[in-house]
Amino acid sequence: MTAPPTATPAASPTPTTADDETPPQPFAGDPFDKDVLPAPPGATGALLRSLLAPMRARVALTTLLLLLQQAAVQAGPLLVAYAIDRAVPAFRADDHGPLLAVGAGYLLCALAAGALQYVFLIASARVNQDVLLDLRGRIFRHAQALSLDFHERYTSGRLISRSTSDVEALRELLSEGLQELVAVVLSFVFISAMLLWLDLGLGAVAVASFGPLYLLMRLYQRRAGRAFAARSTAIATVIVKFVETMNGIRPVRAFRRESANEAAFRVLNRRHERANGDALLEMARYVTGSRLVANTAVAVIVLWGALRVVDGSLELGVLAAAVLYLRRLYDPIDRLAMFLNSYQSAAASLEKIAGLLAQTPSVPEPSTPRELPARDGELPGRAVVFDEVAFGYRTGGEILPRFDLTLPAGQTVAVVGSTGAGKSTLAKLLARFYDPSAGRVLLDGVDLRELAGPELRRGVVMVTQEAFLFSGTVAENIAIGRPDASREEIERAAKAIGAHEFISALPDGYDTDVRKRGGRISAGQRQLVAFARALLADPAVLILDEATSSLDVPGERAVQAAMATVLKGRTAVVIAHRLSTVEIADRVLVMEHGRIVEDGSPAELIAGTGRFADLHRAWRDSLA
Ligand SMILES: Nc1ncnc2c1ncn2[C@@H]1O[C@H](COP(=O)(O)OP(=O)(O)O)[C@@H](O)[C@H]1O
Ligand SMILES: [Mg+2]
Repeated sequence: MTAPPTATPAASPTPTTADDETPPQPFAGDPFDKDVLPAPPGATGALLRSLLAPMRARVALTTLLLLLQQAAVQAGPLLVAYAIDRAVPAFRADDHGPLLAVGAGYLLCALAAGALQYVFLIASARVNQDVLLDLRGRIFRHAQALSLDFHERYTSGRLISRSTSDVEALRELLSEGLQELVAVVLSFVFISAMLLWLDLGLGAVAVASFGPLYLLMRLYQRRAGRAFAARSTAIATVIVKFVETMNGIRPVRAFRRESANEAAFRVLNRRHERANGDALLEMARYVTGSRLVANTAVAVIVLWGALRVVDGSLELGVLAAAVLYLRRLYDPIDRLAMFLNSYQSAAASLEKIAGLLAQTPSVPEPSTPRELPARDGELPGRAVVFDEVAFGYRTGGEILPRFDLTLPAGQTVAVVGSTGAGKSTLAKLLARFYDPSAGRVLLDGVDLRELAGPELRRGVVMVTQEAFLFSGTVAENIAIGRPDASREEIERAAKAIGAHEFISALPDGYDTDVRKRGGRISAGQRQLVAFARALLADPAVLILDEATSSLDVPGERAVQAAMATVLKGRTAVVIAHRLSTVEIADRVLVMEHGRIVEDGSPAELIAGTGRFADLHRAWRDSLA
């Protein structure tokens, strides 16, 4: 029973990396400690391909546009060479045609390059937007479909960082990086071919310089890759810390954690900064090194070319064109570094996204769902059977040792026991938040694992202590129980549990926005809204896990009076630490260390000599 509580992975300040500044991790060796979850080999590439596959035609079209645009851009120096060596001499000989043609051609190429660039930008932006939309949608859908045990360990901050900074990294690659790459590769190929065609010797010098350039690039890629992975993890960690602090702003205030948090945040920020600095340093080295190579090649070509012009084995126009091309050849080297940057960031980010998308729900939807049998009679309740069930959370030991339990349809069962006894765990198995490690949970004879989501929610609804409200109006929050409910039905549900009065007193009544000024409602009132929501859902089995714990005693009394009607005919599991709840129960289960140690009607247990009799006596005395 000493397994760390659920909140621990989320509560540790830096769950994503392990280095000297990180406190010891709660689950040593847990893959969730790392920002990159394990994914099958090739998952990242497969993800990218699956994103681009639906727009293969559009990707091909944009690539073609880019090819044409590059051709138009690269035609310039060739026209200059032609002008110097052919058109100008012809012009001197009073043949004006060639020079005019060259001028017109140059203008045309420039116009075409501009127009093509324009169309390309629009077309590629559309493709990128669709890819990113698709990816964000996938992350959201997938994360939402994953089971609770995933979310307990992964934390919302990391999910936010996946769908913001990591998607953004891919956006940069797609919108700028890929265009750069294609442009750079195309101009390399085109210009090398041109240089070789203009003059084999000069061309060979240029091509020979590609070897050292390539080596430099590989070196940079390897080194910067490390820096970028560290940076992307650092960003994620900063976001996680941020989200966690703001989510827990109340305890932060209450315990004056601000300066401690600030110090931790500064450490994280510094780590981010350092990773950034490392990446920049690598880039500076790469750019400097490759410029050195490039300028050496240019110097060799100019010197050798000039000597050859002097001895007449090379035309001046060709040398001019070669030098113009050379400038363009080495120009994109810096841009290639930019591309490599965005490539590295995007690769690191995509790997994380692929790892997330490779997670499978531990509580999967059935492939061939079954329906619940038709109910016999008017009453809404259904029978529940725990058949040889045993359970332990993934991160700890066994919580519930093997047990059997049958709840007949319509029975109201109170579950009592000390904190940590396993009451909520039992309830969560019944609501199928988790699947048992062994055995089955049956609802009217059907395994919960065979029920499709909607059918399961009509079967079992659980109201917990948290009573979460979504942004929107009070009425909308109640209607989550049954989205097609009319206003009248919503109000009837609210009246049944005694929430109508306080809701009517809100500034806009049922239309009050729960997140806006004046719409703020107390914890107890939130629980009443959550109650009304569950009641409206009209489930066969209703589980109340400390669902009245935020109510004051009169409030709880009022809910209890209402509960008699609400629970009538329904199968109900009521977990409460105030024993007053037990009065409405048909049956009481006492849990201790994951086991049901007492089971009987309240009267029987009170009359007996067990734990419940002791508890009840103590409670009676406290009332007196
Ligand atoms: N999500 C979880 N992951 C791991 N352990 C958990 C989780 N939730 C509860 N536990 C552990 O299971 C045990 C029973 O908890 P719980 O069912 O919540 O008890 P109760 O509701 O009776 O107070 C406790 O030891 C608790 O630490
Ligand atoms: Mg509990």
